[in-house]
Amino acid sequence: MAFYYPEPSHTFSEYLLVPGFTSEECIPDNVSLKTPLVKYRKGEEDCPISLNIPMVSAIMQAVSNDTLAVALAKEGGLSFIYGSQSIEDEAAMVRRVKSSKAGFVISASNLTPDATLADVLALKEKNGFSTVAITEDATPTGKLLGLVTSRDYRITRMSTDIPVREFMTPREKLITAPAATTLKEANDIIWDNKLNALPVVDDQDHLMYFVFRKDYAEHKEHPLALQDADKRYLVGAGINSKDYAERVPALVEAGADVLCIDSSEGYSVWQKKTIDFIREKYGDTVKVGAGNVVDREGFRYLARAGADFVKVGIGGGSICITRETKGIGRGQASALIEVAAARDEYYKETGVYVPICSDGGIVFDFHMTLALAMGADFLMLGRYFARFDESPTNKLMVNGAYVKEYWGEGSNRARNWQRYDLGGKNDLAFEEGVDSYVAYAGSLHDNVEKSLYKVKSTMCNCGVINIPDLQKNAKLTLVSATSIVEGGYHDVTLRTTGGGQ
Ligand code: IMP
Repeated sequence: MAFYYPEPSHTFSEYLLVPGFTSEECIPDNVSLKTPLVKYRKGEEDCPISLNIPMVSAIMQAVSNDTLAVALAKEGGLSFIYGSQSIEDEAAMVRRVKSSKAGFVISASNLTPDATLADVLALKEKNGFSTVAITEDATPTGKLLGLVTSRDYRITRMSTDIPVREFMTPREKLITAPAATTLKEANDIIWDNKLNALPVVDDQDHLMYFVFRKDYAEHKEHPLALQDADKRYLVGAGINSKDYAERVPALVEAGADVLCIDSSEGYSVWQKKTIDFIREKYGDTVKVGAGNVVDREGFRYLARAGADFVKVGIGGGSICITRETKGIGRGQASALIEVAAARDEYYKETGVYVPICSDGGIVFDFHMTLALAMGADFLMLGRYFARFDESPTNKLMVNGAYVKEYWGEGSNRARNWQRYDLGGKNDLAFEEGVDSYVAYAGSLHDNVEKSLYKVKSTMCNCGVINIPDLQKNAKLTLVSATSIVEGGYHDVTLRTTGGGQ
């Protein structure tokens, strides 16, 4: 007879936290959100890689490119660059993150001199940046030919088909800095010459970075930035269980700090084979996460296979239709609670702590706190990050409001068949994700700061100031459908709209 779980499976919104005693030390400024990313042994001083905030960005085309990776690493989190692209392109994104240093930014908007004012405006609309590098081949590291900023054109006076070469500030008029310039020196040049952006070029006059006036101050404001010993940002990369023999070496060579097998269902021999390949070739020096699983058995299989962390969640993603299409999955809260218990049990048995990541389904900021309280060591978010300036997708105006595009890896748009394929035809036979819009929400920094402030405040209400204590001491209660109604405003008529999230 089939196995039946005795209880229905639950998700985040069906739970609430019950406050604990708040002492004088429980204030948001005292809260540390530091958390382990990869496994470590009992008694080891420090986890080999820790996050400074418990957030990683989803392995998705619409979420994790190099721009978002740098922005998130500045806050103390980590991106996993999407694997549903060619090995060369993924490695190039990793390389760009690793070659961008704090305060030095790889150019995000690039055109050739043959582009038009219309192209400049379209690029600005698309990614929000007003400085456009004009390079020989429109790449961020091409030979520098000029610069366009909003000071170079007036939309009211100029035709939009005028070529860039006619109004850009040409190379010979640009003040630039050589490759070896330090951030302090760059900042001095910016102030002495009243610049907004300083291009840094190599000895062949290829563009390497920009240093922006606004970023210098901002750089000082990122005490939690996640960096390696050479002050380069940490970055992860998605791999799959098909082409790992080629993809893994390319990503390791590009400098990826941690890998993650990206699969919709990870309790499979293919994940073990992928980990075996990595262990044989690199031993423990290359870190790799695995998943996704939703129960104890799945966790134990991947932990024993040698995964450095295990990702939890099937069917809860905002763009996900796996449960509707295939009838597999589990409420995210139930999955997390069971897997967290399995992780603790495994730690007791073996002395190895394998962190778990709650992947998908975080809608409200309080879901973050709940997921951590339920035992997650860190959270993977897709929709959340897709809404920000730094995500790779287009910002569009739809029905009078700005939106960003967001599509699932199992949608026809992404065609990430490696994530779903179990052999047979190498193509998506059916979709497991949708192509959608999400409300545009501004900059990553502002949003992450606000969300985590809420998490910290709630932790203080629970009487804890770090994640391990939240996991140990949180008191969670299931709520009835009727008390969910009680939780929103009720029996009043709103005078103004807004508030809430
Ligand atoms: P979100 O944060 O709720 O948007 O969920 C993001 C997560 O959904 C990702 O990290 C993946 O685990 C999962 N996911 C991404 N694309 C798809 C898809 O097309 N179908 C099902 N799940 C997906």
